[in-house]
Amino acid sequence: MTKEKTLPQPANTLAMAGDNTYNENSGQQYLAMEACLPLFEGLSFGPNATFVDYGCSQGAASMAVMQRLVSQLLPHSTATLVFNDLPSNDFNSLIKLLPTIKSFDSIKIIYPCIVPNSFYNPVMPQNTVDVAFALSSIHWLRELPPPKAATESFEEFIRTRNNRNSAASHKDLVEFLNLRGREIKPGGKLIVAVPSPCADNTDGRITGNERLRCALFIAMENLIATGRLPSNATAGVYPPNHVHTEQSFRAALNEAKNAWTIEKVYSRVIPHPAYQAMLESQKGVQDMGLKKTFEEAYAGTVVDWILAVFKPFMQSWWIEQGLNEEVCEQVFQECSDMAKIEFVNNAGAQLPVAQDFVFVRLNRC
Ligand SMILES: C[S@@+](CC[C@H](N)C(=O)[O-])C[C@H]1O[C@@H](n2cnc3c(N)ncnc32)[C@H](O)[C@@H]1O
Repeated sequence: MTKEKTLPQPANTLAMAGDNTYNENSGQQYLAMEACLPLFEGLSFGPNATFVDYGCSQGAASMAVMQRLVSQLLPHSTATLVFNDLPSNDFNSLIKLLPTIKSFDSIKIIYPCIVPNSFYNPVMPQNTVDVAFALSSIHWLRELPPPKAATESFEEFIRTRNNRNSAASHKDLVEFLNLRGREIKPGGKLIVAVPSPCADNTDGRITGNERLRCALFIAMENLIATGRLPSNATAGVYPPNHVHTEQSFRAALNEAKNAWTIEKVYSRVIPHPAYQAMLESQKGVQDMGLKKTFEEAYAGTVVDWILAVFKPFMQSWWIEQGLNEEVCEQVFQECSDMAKIEFVNNAGAQLPVAQDFVFVRLNRC
C-alpha cells in the first residue's frame, strides 16, 4: 500500500459574500456570462426540459441564462430550472430574482428548484439533465489548500500552492465531468465559462490584477502592523480556486469516464466593466483632481468586486487566528478602505482589471 504524503484538507464550504453582495459586485462575471450566450444558440429540447446551473451564486448571471433557455422552449412545454450552489450560498437573494424569469405565456410552465450541495457530489438523478451550465465556477477546488507555513517565504508559498492546486484542479475537474456525465442525458449539453490565466506581459497586455491583489495584502499587512489583525492574518485568506487553460481542460476531458465531444470552444479577455466606465468619465477632463476622483471610483468598484469573493475566506481565517468576531466586520471595512487607497497609490487604477476566459460547449455522447 502506498503511503499518503499529505493529509487531506477540509472541503471548502464557503460561498461568496452574502446579503446580495456578490450580485452587486459581479459586473465582470456578468460580462463573462454574456460572452458565453452564443453557446446557448440553436439548442433544442423536448416538452419537459431540465436546465441546471452548477455554482449559481446569488443568481444575477444565472437568471439571464435561464431566461435565454426558457425563451427557446416550444409552446406547451414545461421546464425545471435547477439552481445549485454550496449550502452556505445566499439563496435568498437568488429567490428574489426568480420572478424576473418570464415564460411569456401561460402555455409554458417553469418549475424552479434549489439544490444546496457541492457539485463534487451527485446533484441530479441519472440521465435527467438536458442543458447544464457552469459559469465562473468550475475553477473552485473541492478542498481548501493548506495555509502558508510560518517557515515559508511568500514566494515559496505561491509556488507550492500553484503546483498543488494545479494537481488538485485536474483531479477535481475530472470528477466534476464524471458526475455531470451521469446526470446529463446522452445528447445533452454542458456549457462552461472557465477563468484562465491572464496573459500579462506575454502578449503585450498589462493588467491591474496583480496590483489589486497587492493592494489588498498591503492593507492587511498594515492592519497587522497596527495590531488590528492577528500576525498570521494573511496566511490562509486565498480562496480555493485555480484557473484552467484550454489545454488543462482538454486533459481532464480525456480522462473523464463518459465520452464528450467539444462542439464549440473560444477564448476571450473579459475586462472589468468599471475600467471602461472610468475612461468614459475621464474623456476630455483636464482637471487632475477630477481625474483622480474617477480613479478612486474605479478602485472602489474593483476592490468591492474582489472582496465579494475574498470576504468569507478572510473573515473565517481571521476569526480562526483569534480576531474577535464582534470587531471583524469593522476591521474588514478598514481593510477595504485601505486597499482602495493603495490601489490608487500603486497606480493600479490606471490599468484595466481583466480576466481571460475559455468558453466551451460539450455534447454528452
Ligand atoms: C465566482 S462565483 C460564480 C457565480 C455565477 N455562476 C456567476 O457567473 O456569476 C462561483 C460560485 O461557485 C460556487 N461554488 C464553489 N465551489 C462549489 C461547489 N463545490 N459546489 C457548488 N458550488 C460551488 C461558489 O459558492 C460561488 O457561488
